[in-house]
Amino acid sequence: MAVTDRDRQRYDSATAHLEPPFAVVDLAALRANAAAMTRRAAGKPIRLASKSVRCRALIDQVLRMDGFRGILAFTLPEALWLAERGTCDDILVGYPTADRTALARLAGDPAAAAAITVMVDCPEHLDMIEKAAAGAAEPHPVRVCIDIDAGYVALRGRLRAGARRSPVRTPGDAAALAAAIVARPGLRLAGLMAYEAQIAGVGDNPAGQPLQAMAIRYLQRKSGAELAVRRAEIVAVVRSVAPLEFVNGGGTGSVEKTAAEAAVTEIGAGSGLYQPRLFDSYRGFRGQPAALFALPVVRRPGAGVITALGGGYLASGPGNRSRLPGPYLPAGLRLDRQEGAGEVQTPLIGAAADRLRIGDRVWLRHAKAGELCERFSELHLIEDNAVVTTVPTYRGEGKTFL
Ligand SMILES: Cc1ncc(COP(=O)(O)O)c(C=O)c1O
Repeated sequence: MAVTDRDRQRYDSATAHLEPPFAVVDLAALRANAAAMTRRAAGKPIRLASKSVRCRALIDQVLRMDGFRGILAFTLPEALWLAERGTCDDILVGYPTADRTALARLAGDPAAAAAITVMVDCPEHLDMIEKAAAGAAEPHPVRVCIDIDAGYVALRGRLRAGARRSPVRTPGDAAALAAAIVARPGLRLAGLMAYEAQIAGVGDNPAGQPLQAMAIRYLQRKSGAELAVRRAEIVAVVRSVAPLEFVNGGGTGSVEKTAAEAAVTEIGAGSGLYQPRLFDSYRGFRGQPAALFALPVVRRPGAGVITALGGGYLASGPGNRSRLPGPYLPAGLRLDRQEGAGEVQTPLIGAAADRLRIGDRVWLRHAKAGELCERFSELHLIEDNAVVTTVPTYRGEGKTFL
């Protein structure tokens, strides 16, 4: 029997008592993925990207594993919530905040101010933090991290690859912002971050697209070489302005490449734990699908097609087919091109459809990692042939941060 058939049997029997739709995490797959990420990081710690997990029980489990240290959070209210609950005492908020209330809470709470670092990339951020902190009764210094633009720019700006994030790009930009931080007694410069989305988040082995694969690999090689030099220069000049506790870089798709740069002290990553569909197309690693959701088969409209209830759980990003969930088990099903994944029902086409009956279940994978948890309030955790425990997602705890 194929591995996927065995997995299907295992998942079906472990969850026979549950009514779909529901979501599960296969703990053995999650552990194997974590171990593979740790090996790829070659001794550098991985700061866990919480947006890619969005479940406190699993964040706790991963932080207890070898190789993971600290959290890369996605909002300041989330970071405050995690710190207050004792999940972690080293939380970097990966994106700037304009939440004055949360900033005032941060500055007013000594434990939170010691545990949490917020992201900045311009003097306006510094002003906003200082102003909000002034509202606290007894403000504590706020730890900040400078976000560096890790994008690739060529042909005098006509070619751009990477996320539009920070205006801080050169060693001079970084040194000037570092000096502005050091000059403000209410702020502490704790670290630098440079996230190379065009390498870490773009698969270099897209299925059935050899020309695109060549173009992606070429661009990633050029970008990686440019960034390694620029990142090292930036780190050196900022270290001459202030000591740095950490230099964060990379993501699931670039762990081994980013970790190889001497200037980088830690990797920020999380998606590889659930191994969603968008991370299937990398040459450097192959994770095991760990997060799945089950839908019930509710109709059989004709030969070679079944219809499942629900399923329209699209991922963020450019609005194209890559963001759709994908049928996983049984093998041999595909989405209908016209209908995609629907708000209330999803037709699935293929030879396997004729072997499915009403009331059976189909298993799908989300395109991205933690966003799945915005659709489900619980995750059923599977070990071997059984659900060993059921834990709330962020949503299940009433927390929808974004
Ligand atoms: C700042 C930052 N670091 C790292 C990552 C990588 O996270 P993951 O490994 O979950 O893709 C991301 C993803 O968007 C990010 O925004």
